[in-house]
Amino acid sequence: MGSNKRCDMRNRIKNSMKAACSVAVFAAALASSQAALAEAKTIKDGVFTQAQVDAGEMVYNDSCKTCHDMRFYRDAMKSWDGQPILYLWETILGTMPADNPGALMLEEYTDVIAYILSENGFPAGDITLDPDVNMGDINVVAP
Ligand code: HEC
Repeated sequence: MGSNKRCDMRNRIKNSMKAACSVAVFAAALASSQAALAEAKTIKDGVFTQAQVDAGEMVYNDSCKTCHDMRFYRDAMKSWDGQPILYLWETILGTMPADNPGALMLEEYTDVIAYILSENGFPAGDITLDPDVNMGDINVVAP
């Protein structure tokens, strides 16, 4: 009897070690999935080209400047912090220019975002910002 109890105890310890072990495995899996998330790009990673910025400046001057100054975009981007830039693109596409929503070509909406990012201190780079290719995987960070 006494020895059975001890055995019980040992089993219980074994089981709790197993539990601890699977918690550790789970934690490791979580850590590696977080590492994968950390690799998702943000607007700091050179995700638009200088050519897009230059094209976007013209769009901005023609179609956006009358109603918004750059401080407005800075604040707007703060409210999009952590969200895919595709959502911002879709919102602008659906609502702007407020006096004629959807009036621009899709590319012009993308270019104007590149210009706005550049004006807020984010770097141009080798990647072309493209709603069909990568904008769902690029997150906004507050400027
Ligand atoms: C005729 C005036 C007008 C023009 C032109 C205009 N906007 Fe707007 N925009 C507004 C108004 C009004 C709002 C909503 C109210 C607010 O937030 O001030 C708004 C809101 C926004 C927002 C905030 C959206 C959000 O949910 O975070 C963005 C970004 C934006 N505009 C971008 C643009 C861009 C880019 C252009 C040029 C393609 C543009 N706007 C042209 C009037 C305008």
